[in-house]
Amino acid sequence: MRSYLLAITLALRGAFAASMKPGTFCHFSESCDNIKIVDNFFLSATCRDETLSYKHANTLDLNLCIGINQTTANLLWEPYGKIANYCTDCALVEGSSIACQCSPLVSAENNAPTQSYLDLDTGIGNDNGTLTCSGGIGSFN
Ligand SMILES: *[C@@H]1O[C@H](CO)[C@@H](O)[C@H](O)[C@H]1NC(C)=O
Ligand SMILES: *[C@@H]1O[C@H](CO)[C@@H](O)[C@H](O)[C@H]1NC(C)=O
Repeated sequence: MRSYLLAITLALRGAFAASMKPGTFCHFSESCDNIKIVDNFFLSATCRDETLSYKHANTLDLNLCIGINQTTANLLWEPYGKIANYCTDCALVEGSSIACQCSPLVSAENNAPTQSYLDLDTGIGNDNGTLTCSGGIGSFN
C-alpha cells in the first residue's frame, strides 16, 4: 500500500515537473484551484508548487500584462498594459477566460464599450506556486 501511494506521488510529481518547463509558464489553470477575478483586475488562485501542495494562494495584478488594442478595444497581452485605464466589469467566464467592457482611449463619442475576451491561460503561468505573466511579472515574451 505504501509503495503504491509512493508510486502515485512520484508519477504525479513527474507529470507536474514535465508541465513546468522553463520559459513555458502558460496554462496556469491546469495546476491552480479557486480561480477568481477580484476587484475587476486581479487574478486570484491557489497554485501548486513542485511539492504538490495547494497552499500558495496568491493574486496577480492584470494591469501588469494586459492592455487593449486601441483600434478594436480587444484585450491583448502587453507589458504594463494597464487595462484598468480602459476596461470595466471584468469577470471570469468559461474557466480561465475573462470578459471586460473596454473602450479605446480615443473613441467616437457615445460609442458603447466593446465586450472583449481573453483566455488567461494563453499568457499566465504558475511559476512554482506563484501566478506569473509569461516571461515574468510585467514582461511578456
Ligand atoms: C489592432 O487591431 C487592428 C485591426 O484589427 C490590427 O490591424 C492591429 O494590428 C492591432 N494591433 C495590435 C497591437 O494588436
Ligand atoms: C518551489 O517552492 C517550494 C516551496 O513551496 C521550495 O521548497 C522549492 O525549492 C521551490 N522550487 C523552485 C525550483 O524554486
